[in-house]
This record gives sequence, C-alpha cells and structure tokens, in this order.
Amino acid sequence: MGFDKYIDRGVYPTLKWSKSFLTEYFGNPDAIPMSVADMDFEAPPAVIEKLKKRAAHGIYGYEYRPDSYFDAIVGWYRNRHNWNLEREHIESSPSILSAIAILINQHSDEGDGVIIQPPVFFEFRMVIRDNRRKVVKNPLKFVDGHYEIDFEDLERKAADPKNKMLVLCSPHNPVGRVWTQGELEQVAEICARHDVFVIADEIHGDFVFPPHQFAPYLSIANNGNEAACLSPAKTFNIAGMVDALTIIPNEQHRQQFREFTQRYQINKVNVFASAAIEAAHREGGAWLDELLVYLQGNIAFIKAYLQQRNIGVSLIEPEGTFLAWLDFNGLGMDAKTLAKFLAQEAQIAIAPGHWFGREGAGFARMTIGCPRATIQRALDNLTAAVQKSGR
Ligand SMILES: Cc1ncc(COP(=O)(O)O)c(C=O)c1O
Repeated sequence: MGFDKYIDRGVYPTLKWSKSFLTEYFGNPDAIPMSVADMDFEAPPAVIEKLKKRAAHGIYGYEYRPDSYFDAIVGWYRNRHNWNLEREHIESSPSILSAIAILINQHSDEGDGVIIQPPVFFEFRMVIRDNRRKVVKNPLKFVDGHYEIDFEDLERKAADPKNKMLVLCSPHNPVGRVWTQGELEQVAEICARHDVFVIADEIHGDFVFPPHQFAPYLSIANNGNEAACLSPAKTFNIAGMVDALTIIPNEQHRQQFREFTQRYQINKVNVFASAAIEAAHREGGAWLDELLVYLQGNIAFIKAYLQQRNIGVSLIEPEGTFLAWLDFNGLGMDAKTLAKFLAQEAQIAIAPGHWFGREGAGFARMTIGCPRATIQRALDNLTAAVQKSGR
C-alpha cells in the first residue's frame, strides 16, 4: 500500500508538522514531527476515490446520514469485532472530545470527581478541568515493564460518592495496553457497584496486534450507565474530517445527548466526512490489515534498533495503538531536562511523558504511523545525541 512513501504534509497547514506548532511546543521548528497522534499515510484508496467522486458532483448542500452510512458502521463492528452494535444506539458529535465534554456535563455536576488512569491522553485532564470537574487519578501500575490497572485503588476512588465518572482509554494511549475482557469486566463490575458512569474512549480500538484482541466495552458492560466513543479518525487517518460516533445504549441518556447536540446546533452533517466514513467502514478492511502489519514492522524495528544500540532507551512494547511509549529512565534525566534534550539535542518532536501526567515522567510517546525511514532518522538522531552527551 506504499506505507514507505514519504509525503510532504508541509504543503497544507498540518498541525503536527507546522513550524509554529513545533516552535511553540518544542522550541525547535526543525525537529522531526512525531508528536500529534495522526499518521503520515494516505487514507485508504476507497476513501480517496469516494471523496474525489463526491467533490466532482459539485454540489455540497445539506445532507442527512443515509441508512447505508449506518449499515457500513454496524457491519464493520460485527465483522471485525464480533459486536452487535445497535444502529439505534449511535449518536454523532464533531469529535470524541466534544462527546466526552457533553457526557461529563450530563452525568456529573460542577466540582464532582471524574476518574482517569494516568499516564493517559492529556486532553482528558483538560476537558475535565475546562468543564469545572475535578480530575481524580487512578494511576496505572507499572509492573515488570508492563502496565496494569490498579483495581484496589479504582475501588477506593469509585466508592467515594463525589466521584461520578470514569474516562477509560481502551486501548490505552499512550502505554499501548489492550485491556483484556477480564480487566474490562472488573472495571464494569466496580463502576456498576458504585454507580460510576463509564465513558469508554475506543478511538484506538482498531489498532490491535495479535494475539491481543479488542473487546468493545459495551459488549461487556450493560449497566445502563455507560457510553462508548468510537471514531474512524485514527483508523483511517481522517481526523481532520472532524466527525465521531457516540454509542449510548440507555434510551434516556441517548435522548439527553441528542437534545444537547440539537440545542447547541452541533448535529449537522459534513458531506465529505459522511462519504469518507461510509466508504472507510465498507471498504477499508484490507487496507487496515496491511497497515497493522506495517505498524508491527515499525515496532519490531524500534525494538531491535534500541537493543542493538544499547543507549539506555527501551520500548514498552505496545499491544495496540500506533504509539510507541519509550522508556528514557536509563538516561537519568529529570522530566524537563529530558524534554529539552529530545527536542533540542536529538531534534525529535515526540510527546514528553509528563504531558500525560507526572506518572509518565521519564518516558516519551513517539507516533509511529509514519514511514520506517522517518523512525530510523529519529532513532539515529537520538543515538547521536545520547553518544554526544556522554551518558
Ligand atoms: C484516546 C484519544 N481520545 C480522543 C482523541 C481525540 O479525538 P477527537 O479529535 O475526535 O476529539 C485522541 C487523539 O489523539 C486520543 O488519542
């Protein structure tokens, strides 16, 4: 599929590649851009073809989402994840984070606690705070190079009546865990017992490497007190389409969500997004299979490279996602020094671990949805910088 092909994203105002973004967050406009979680690959050919055809029609007036759109999505989850997602449970929102913000507003009050599991996608913290709720941490445990949920701590946090919700990242960004059925059952059981509403953010659900298997949270939990956020944005590299799916089995909750998107008029249809999403779910499977093989090749490459060079950096091998969580603790730098070293000395723009909570200090997240040659360049830079530093 040509995943090795270098495509210059600088010709468009690409967030990850923009000089101003690199300067603002990394103080280095020339650092290799590997922080934002989108991919430097073309979308599946079926999506590109569909968009060309849609553009060629020349009329882009108001649309609704047709039956075929929903059929494609339901078919995708049935065929790939063995999950009977019910079409009636699907709501739309502009993005996953907007859906999370709405759900937080509907299922908690100002000042209530919302539990997250750091190190975790930093925008969870922001969306909780922006909506005047309290961030409550249930940090993951790091045991023998492997991350696990601290269920005892989750039990304690969930039992506190002030804590009303959990935002679960499944699979987990940035550490790459694919939660097992058993782990998700335990989460569901604890949250049901304490009446904690669970938002399962499953945006990375299609990125799972064998033998691991993605278990959709709603195929496990059925407490009437949960929602799942799904999105084709990462899977098919169409995040800029700005469209996401929220699955809410509880009818009353679903109605509330719909009233909210209606009240704020954020329920409109983007003609290109809906064309792309339908085509991707209907015809993108073979492309995704090849992508997953390529990503596993990238992971194997990083692992072998770091083992051979022995520079005090190691890979926490991901079970899913297109993110590599790298352990820099062997370099003995504090969080700020490490961030500066990576951006200035190694000239790589990768997300420093402390962005994901202080639990991530000493680590950094590299987006590996890019040609292997880009990864090689980044690792060569890193090796040279470590050697120069004399560490
Ligand atoms: C776990 C997770 N949730 C949500 C998002 C953002 O999704 P959206 O752009 O649809 O809000 C990301 C993007 O990196 C993510 O990794």
